[in-house]
Amino acid sequence: MNISNAAKHLGPMFEQIAADGQLALDELRLPHGAQVLDVGTGVGNFAIFLALRGFDVLTGEPDTDTTRYARQDWAGNAAAVGVERGIRFQHFNAAHMPFEDGRFAAVFFYGVLHHIDETARKDVFREALRVARPGGAVVFFEPNPETLKQIWVNDPGHPVPADPACYKGNLPVKAMRLQGRRMDISLYRAG
Ligand SMILES: C[S@@+](CC[C@H](N)C(=O)[O-])C[C@H]1O[C@@H](n2cnc3c(N)ncnc32)[C@H](O)[C@@H]1O
Repeated sequence: MNISNAAKHLGPMFEQIAADGQLALDELRLPHGAQVLDVGTGVGNFAIFLALRGFDVLTGEPDTDTTRYARQDWAGNAAAVGVERGIRFQHFNAAHMPFEDGRFAAVFFYGVLHHIDETARKDVFREALRVARPGGAVVFFEPNPETLKQIWVNDPGHPVPADPACYKGNLPVKAMRLQGRRMDISLYRAG
């Protein structure tokens, strides 16, 4: 299914999410079918986008998360656009990922880092680089100011965006920033 048709099922925001995701994919040039990790499943928008683009997607969130952003019907959304077979779900905490070193061609956080406790964000960054393959990438999407304004209309307590650069410590990474329609995108490669 193409993105426009998927948006008929998932809502008009999906087209913007896909446009921002595509900016990162255009930089990464991952091979078709590559195994990728989508951290923070939520309603499944980004995992669904990745599956529609032909990647082998593993997604997950902590089983302890009782906020409104977790335990959503991501599987129903994936089924609505026919990609349920392209996405596997596993509970995990990004600060201690249960995956071997170098397993994923890329690790994506779409609207997630600011939901993670600030004290855990350095661990999360280190873990994401660890599970990315050598030369692989870690990509954070965080709301831009206009998106944050829209989010606060319905959820005034929503946390402020996180700047991933604050959490990379001394890790040897090369960084690139991209401006999406909804999100500011920070792309890191081990280097
Ligand atoms: C706003 S939702 C993300 C939206 C989602 N990526 C999408 O495309 O629909 C935030 C997600 O972050 C997850 N999350 C929060 N803390 C986490 C952690 N420590 N490890 C992994 N996921 C976490 C939440 O459980 C929730 O699934």
